[in-house]
Amino acid sequence: MTTPDWMPPGVDAELPSAARIYDYLLGGAHNFASDRAVADRLLAVDPGVRRIATLNRAFLRRAVLFLMSQGIRQFLDLGSGIPTVGNVHEIAHQVDPSTKVAYVDYEAVAVAHSEMILAGVDNTAILMADVTEPHLVLDSPKIRGLLDFDQPIGLLALTLFHYIPPQRKPFQVIAAYRDALAPGSHLAVSHFTDDLVHSTGDGLVDTMKTTQNNVFPRSKDEITQLFAGFDLVDPGLVPISLWRPETTMDGGDDPSRDGQYAGVARKK
Ligand SMILES: C[S@@+](CC[C@H](N)C(=O)[O-])C[C@H]1O[C@@H](n2cnc3c(N)ncnc32)[C@H](O)[C@@H]1O
Repeated sequence: MTTPDWMPPGVDAELPSAARIYDYLLGGAHNFASDRAVADRLLAVDPGVRRIATLNRAFLRRAVLFLMSQGIRQFLDLGSGIPTVGNVHEIAHQVDPSTKVAYVDYEAVAVAHSEMILAGVDNTAILMADVTEPHLVLDSPKIRGLLDFDQPIGLLALTLFHYIPPQRKPFQVIAAYRDALAPGSHLAVSHFTDDLVHSTGDGLVDTMKTTQNNVFPRSKDEITQLFAGFDLVDPGLVPISLWRPETTMDGGDDPSRDGQYAGVARKK
């Protein structure tokens, strides 16, 4: 295999990652044969998987624009992934170029590509860190140098927490971020659930076991607990296509197959 020029040193191209599988599902080019093989297996167990990725990206756009409408001008995007069409800073800077956007991911290709596209873009930063170590993110000079934690922040955790196993204490992790935020900050979450996937048995969970990122789908009640200390805004935690759809692209044709619940909430 020839090494692509965008491949950072030290990446194991044989070990698939959620970031690169998601990139492939969205039509991106920063993925390896091993990622594409997993994505194809996922599509075989549930052809709706590509739609799940597309609906998530559409939700990201709506959530960022909603938070901008609430006066938010700073974003902390956890598990930001490989940059693809409609990144947070692109959406936000169309409304207000002074908006500050900090990205965090622990996947080398995602970080390297983010560094490349953010070079020379004011008011942005990318930090390589494991989000389950909140102090590494919250105490990082890169993050503190960009974001003002005395002012409201839009905390984004999209298609992320289902990669965090129970033993990494996802509810404590989110609470650490919440406690660092000023009142009026907002949290946006999308999260896999078994309630909204029409795959056979444990198809998606089993297939992802061959990657760096096992998946832990959660129930609506469990996902709601991520919002402790926040008030969910209307329409609450719903199948992702039902969260304030604006166009037919946003709204799926069958919310029972959305794969993810999504919600946005305001810190009390
Ligand atoms: C499916 S992508 C989602 C990208 C983006 N948030 C979106 O919704 O379009 C999930 C990302 O979360 C990242 N991720 C998973 N667990 C992580 C962790 N513990 N720390 C940092 N990033 C993580 C993966 O590397 C991947 O880039």
